[in-house]
Amino acid sequence: MPTSPDPKARTCLAIVLAAGEGTRMKSALPKVLHRVAGRPMLACVLSAVNGAAPAAVAVVVGPGRDDVAAAARAASPGAEIFVQTERRGTAHAVLAARDALARGYDDVLVAFADTPLVRPDTLRAMRTELVAGASVVVLGFEARDPTGYGRLLTEGDQLVGIREHKDATEAERAIRLSNAGLMALDGRTALATLDAIGNSNAQGEFYLTDAVTVARQRGGSARTVIVGEEEVMGVNDRVQLAAAEAAVQNRLREAAMRNGVTLIAPETVFLSPDTVFGRDVVVEPFVVFGPGVTIGDGVTIRSFSHFDSATVGDKAQIGPYSRLRPGANLEADVHVGNFVEIKAASIGQGAKINHLSYIGDSTVGARTNIGAGTITCNYDGFDKSRTNIGEDAFIGSNSSLVAPVTIGSGAYIGSGSVITDNVKDNALAVARGRQYEKEGWAEAFRESRKNRKKKQ
Ligand code: UD1
Ligand code: CA
Repeated sequence: MPTSPDPKARTCLAIVLAAGEGTRMKSALPKVLHRVAGRPMLACVLSAVNGAAPAAVAVVVGPGRDDVAAAARAASPGAEIFVQTERRGTAHAVLAARDALARGYDDVLVAFADTPLVRPDTLRAMRTELVAGASVVVLGFEARDPTGYGRLLTEGDQLVGIREHKDATEAERAIRLSNAGLMALDGRTALATLDAIGNSNAQGEFYLTDAVTVARQRGGSARTVIVGEEEVMGVNDRVQLAAAEAAVQNRLREAAMRNGVTLIAPETVFLSPDTVFGRDVVVEPFVVFGPGVTIGDGVTIRSFSHFDSATVGDKAQIGPYSRLRPGANLEADVHVGNFVEIKAASIGQGAKINHLSYIGDSTVGARTNIGAGTITCNYDGFDKSRTNIGEDAFIGSNSSLVAPVTIGSGAYIGSGSVITDNVKDNALAVARGRQYEKEGWAEAFRESRKNRKKKQ
């Protein structure tokens, strides 16, 4: 099959290895489903892999791992799942995807699902080395502490082999240039190379790393692409998981700031890879952005606010201590203040909900003012019901709005009301005990109690 020198025109099969439980995580959850920046590590890797524009994606999972397969399909809908029935090494795992390899692709990329920080640019650079004529491309890095990693053996500028730590001599163990685990293989020879790999080594495993010597024996050449250690950080336990999270957050914070967001204390702000910011957003310390959040231009977000699948319009002011839950959709100039929770609710332009409120399954019209302590009572233990509030309405403090209920535009609700019936436009509704006053009552009461005490 002729191969094209243009990486864009070449076909690529990406194989992601996701077998193995990751016992050092000490978890009921398989390692690759542990999350970094809110996404399973497997999804992080698949996202990077898809950035390298593969024609097909194969994910190798352990036996019975339907949960890993489902996460793979969720992150990369076209992904084919292959099962590695026995754990016999990384080359053996790649060969679990034999049926995909046999279809024939120009390039084959192999990535590990426990290396979540790899960038699409790096994978593209590896493909570019294949275009330049390499049979095998290895991703390498200078390890601060190379213990446990495979070492890259070089002669001049040639990569001649990779030695696993367990198989290495003392002299080889002194080498710091290490194998990140990611590899690109020339698709024309990949299957033959992988099939020629044996298992005579300290672990009795079929090592993918032996592709380097095998390819060279067969007249091919090996090259390396070198990246910084942080990008290829592998996660084997929860300490490394936290280190990966910190590294991803730093990347996201830097990208946000470079795009025109002010983070006053960036190290205290947590982002998701899909967080979208407009220009001139200011984020005070200690704010969390879960997945699916879009923030408009000129928005100010004050400390201790939490967002999850929410949209905020231009020039809105949020927090401190606001919680926007899934489906909170705020138009421009909305003010949301301390201890306000909003869920599945559209809040019209310029509306204000400044203190101590729960607004769920609701529509609030433009310029409406929701007083302190307003609660939409949206749930009766079985069903969720909606509250619709028109424009320019005024909801007095400490009101309960028992859904389903509609409050008209321009209506007033007296403070402390429990509203169970619809309120017409421009009406006043008061639903609370009427105030009455007994003059001098308190004085008489105190007198009678004092007299009772004297008699005792
Ligand atoms: C591997 C590399 C080593 C490299 C290191 C980087 C080999 C032989 N060694 O070592 O050179 O420095 O990664 O982190 O490739 N897996 C399977 N099935 C298997 C074996 C492994 O799916 O039978 C998967 C694992 O789930 C994991 C990945 O392959 O995602 C790497 O396997 P692991 O055992 O962690 O390899 P290392 O010893 O770390
Ligand atoms: Ca590993």
